[in-house]
Amino acid sequence: MKALVTGATSGIGQSIARKLAKRGWDLILTGRNEEMLKEMQKTLGKGTEIITADLAKREEVFRVYEFCKGKDVDMLVNNAGYGLFGKFDDTDMTDELNMIDLNVTALHILTKLFLRDFKKKDYGTILNVASAAGFMAGPLMATYYATKNYVLKLSIAIYEELRRDKSNVTITVLCPGPVATNFNNRAGVSFSVKPINADYAAEYALHKAFTGKLFAIPGLTVRLGTVAARFVPTKILSAIVYNIQQAKKSSDGKERALKK
Ligand SMILES: NC(=O)c1ccc[n+]([C@@H]2O[C@H](COP(=O)([O-])OP(=O)(O)OC[C@H]3O[C@@H](n4cnc5c(N)ncnc54)[C@H](OP(=O)(O)O)[C@@H]3O)[C@@H](O)[C@H]2O)c1
Repeated sequence: MKALVTGATSGIGQSIARKLAKRGWDLILTGRNEEMLKEMQKTLGKGTEIITADLAKREEVFRVYEFCKGKDVDMLVNNAGYGLFGKFDDTDMTDELNMIDLNVTALHILTKLFLRDFKKKDYGTILNVASAAGFMAGPLMATYYATKNYVLKLSIAIYEELRRDKSNVTITVLCPGPVATNFNNRAGVSFSVKPINADYAAEYALHKAFTGKLFAIPGLTVRLGTVAARFVPTKILSAIVYNIQQAKKSSDGKERALKK
């Protein structure tokens, strides 16, 4: 069994890769940090291949797919992604467009290409990493929340198509709340609630993926939050999310928010 894991150099992706290796999976790991990929390859052994790529660049996404072609990949883990804090009119345009290219476009391309391959052999698993943010609008992280809404809704729709086809291919969408990784540094925020750890999120996601479940929402509080979000009027929910995001603002975040 072989899995492609994007964003395998850190955080949730790194934990997923390690846990798959422990279960005996061969791996293709990708990220931009070549040194870390080599380190992962060294620790995980000869069943691990690596490919350095910037998935915010469309041609690099196709290059990763070409690298995987003919290698009989059984699982795609679309994990690479980042967030950006700030008012929509303040956040850096290029950074934000890169985020959309990574969080949305790269995931879209890989999901479509691998889904086609998996459907041909009527076997395979896709694990898309969205976020609890996918269930709501996110003032002060508007674009990030919107990208995760895309990932969540795309995955739900594909799940239903596969169900109607009685396909053996499965899709699972991981929707965590705060997880202790590099995410916050990159996004320019600090935690307002206690985060779960990446290993727990990874184990939970793999359990749901291997049992063919659509949703993987680790942590009871977050699970209840996503259910409650469905019953709160949109404007009130947005006001609550604004306050939560405001509380997460770090000094780093302030700087980034002011950068044009
Ligand atoms: N941490 C949280 O609180 C949280 C909550 C909900 C959802 N998530 C989601 O979980 C996923 C993983 O994030 P994380 O929390 O584990 O954060 P992380 O520790 O910062 O990891 C992000 C990963 O994405 C990769 N990446 C970033 N930009 C890339 C690019 N342009 N091309 C290729 N790879 C790129 C990074 O690798 P390189 O730097 O080597 O490129 C890294 O391996 C993301 O999709 C995030 O939105 C996180």
